[in-house]
Amino acid sequence: MSTMQDIEEIEKKLLSRVSTTNTPRDVLRSPDLKQLYGAIKSIPNEQRSAYGKRINDLKLSLESSISKREADLDNAAVESIDVTAPWDINSVQVNLLPTNLGSQHPLTVEIENVADIFTRMGFEAIESRQIDDDYHMFGSLNFPENHPARDGYDTFRTEEGFIAPAHTSTMQNRILKAGKAKLESGGQIGVVALGRCFRNEDLDATHEHTFYQFEGVFVSKDANLGQMLGTLRSFFECYYGQRLKIKTQPAYFPFVEPGLEFAIEKPTTLGGKPGEWLEMLGCGMIHPNVLLAAGIDPKKYRGFAWGGGIERLVMLKYGIEDIRYFESGKLQFLRKFA
Ligand code: PHE
Repeated sequence: MSTMQDIEEIEKKLLSRVSTTNTPRDVLRSPDLKQLYGAIKSIPNEQRSAYGKRINDLKLSLESSISKREADLDNAAVESIDVTAPWDINSVQVNLLPTNLGSQHPLTVEIENVADIFTRMGFEAIESRQIDDDYHMFGSLNFPENHPARDGYDTFRTEEGFIAPAHTSTMQNRILKAGKAKLESGGQIGVVALGRCFRNEDLDATHEHTFYQFEGVFVSKDANLGQMLGTLRSFFECYYGQRLKIKTQPAYFPFVEPGLEFAIEKPTTLGGKPGEWLEMLGCGMIHPNVLLAAGIDPKKYRGFAWGGGIERLVMLKYGIEDIRYFESGKLQFLRKFA
């Protein structure tokens, strides 16, 4: 139980803190104060009003010294800012780092490149989100509650329950909802979402905790797999600047049916041998439940979607053998792209 003496001591301590800290208002959130407030209910009835009044006085005196301290700090700040340049600009040669030593990160360049190709094909390019929730990561994508497929995504979560998106498919529901009106007035939805994703998995030359994906979503009255394969082939041929062989094999993703893995034959110009296939992305026809979750009638409209890693594209293009270089900040690596 707190006594009047305790209050006195705490008051001294807090007032001295107010007079030394640069953020005096934080003192009002001190656990000592909380403890004093909390003690009110355990004070015997006959002393409670005196105790309450004492705490109130303490609060008032804190408030007034906080305001005073803030005013002092403000004045001090005004007095101490020196706005003159620290050298005489007319006589001193300053060796600032020349701006031409910097360069764009290869991923920035390639993300723009990918967005440009799809924009030329008639897609709208948008950026994906970097913090999300369970509904966009799983629920809206036809992952049943507690389904083991959720575990495949190694998601990072905050204590508050937010999710660091493990794929750009988190954008599908938003893209579909935003495009619904256009679809219903006779148009189509064609969007590519690009951005950063995160997975809590073991790191090696082909797995990084932070990476980029590009997600395509197309919906119309009669979208079909042939159109999807044509779109993807055109994209890859444009990206690598040559004709390519493609193939697919069945794959399971809860949000597409059928689901496919899409592979290209590794171009000989990039060190590939004939018959060497590289799996580039996952894709398929959008599952009716995903359309329904966005309020789109799957009896009237069909869609396809794909999602793939941008690092993988870039690694093949430039013969980069370790994905971890991208996030390493190593100048030796970055200078190759300057
Ligand atoms: N989101 C899937 C992944 O990252 C890829 C995918 C996207 C598959 C869209 C199908 C359709 O694993």
